[in-house]
Amino acid sequence: MPNRYPDRDASGLRTAIGREHGVGPRAVFCANGSNEVLQCLLLAYGGPGRSALVFEPTYALHSHIARLTSTKTLSASRGEDFGIDRDSALALIETESPDVVFVCSPNNPTGNCETRETVEAIAAASEGLVVVDEAYAQFSRWSAVDLITVHANVAVVRTFSKTWALAGLRLGYVLAAPDVVAACSSAALPYHLDAFKQVAGLAALRYGAEMKARVARLVEQRGRIEAGLAALPVDVWPSDANFVLFRPRGRDAAEVWQGLVERSVLVRDVSGFARLEGCLRVSIGTAEENGRFLAALGEILAGGPSVGSVR
Ligand SMILES: Cc1ncc(COP(=O)(O)O)c(C=O)c1O
Repeated sequence: MPNRYPDRDASGLRTAIGREHGVGPRAVFCANGSNEVLQCLLLAYGGPGRSALVFEPTYALHSHIARLTSTKTLSASRGEDFGIDRDSALALIETESPDVVFVCSPNNPTGNCETRETVEAIAAASEGLVVVDEAYAQFSRWSAVDLITVHANVAVVRTFSKTWALAGLRLGYVLAAPDVVAACSSAALPYHLDAFKQVAGLAALRYGAEMKARVARLVEQRGRIEAGLAALPVDVWPSDANFVLFRPRGRDAAEVWQGLVERSVLVRDVSGFARLEGCLRVSIGTAEENGRFLAALGEILAGGPSVGSVR
């Protein structure tokens, strides 16, 4: 009831989320979106005198929240295919001993996922916490969730914002060893998870079948977008997420982006990211939206009619 403070431990919600993953509530910490989960993790495991390792290009909030919490950011560059180069990652972990290592899998904004071998090797080599950000996990071929029972330093972060289509709810969580969960709880403000959110999260979990069906549709459409892009003069990277990274060959990304906007198609211009010069990122939409995107892009890249004449 809203006149009372909410269940401070969010026990019902944590139990239900834990059940989804075959773990108990003590392995689950919930927060207001996975960004707040990341913040709690860095408040607990980062801070002045500590460091966090990120593999760029990646989700900007990892280094941003590190800065906000006065955690030193160590940046390593991803390999050619945007995967983490295992040997150089392990060498860096040995020399720098970061307190937190961020592995974003599937990675935003490049879309690729890491291999289990890489995540396991990083977990085994790290003395610090290994945060596997799985915001897009259900779109992916594998998940690191089961590693939390093998490696006590692995924390897997999930969100209701993507596959559950509930970004407005602001609900995320981490699956980890009970001491990591307890550390996050200490870093969070009391009663940070309101009563409505706890009830809404529980209600959402009853629609798991619908969520899986939606994910299956999006994965199918992702295949269509990848195939459509492969037939155009663009470089395209394989994706395990609900978006695809591509680079129009020999064309200015901002101009292509503008051409798409003028055809009522909005994609993300990620060309400002280091190593993503000239790149755009398209989110997978409905079959109709995806068809419109491919048609508009094809027209722009073919030199097409002046945009003013297209409506
Ligand atoms: C990799 C990654 N992690 C976390 C988030 C944050 O999600 P939330 O809405 O749960 O804060 C995003 C959002 O785009 C993301 O791409």
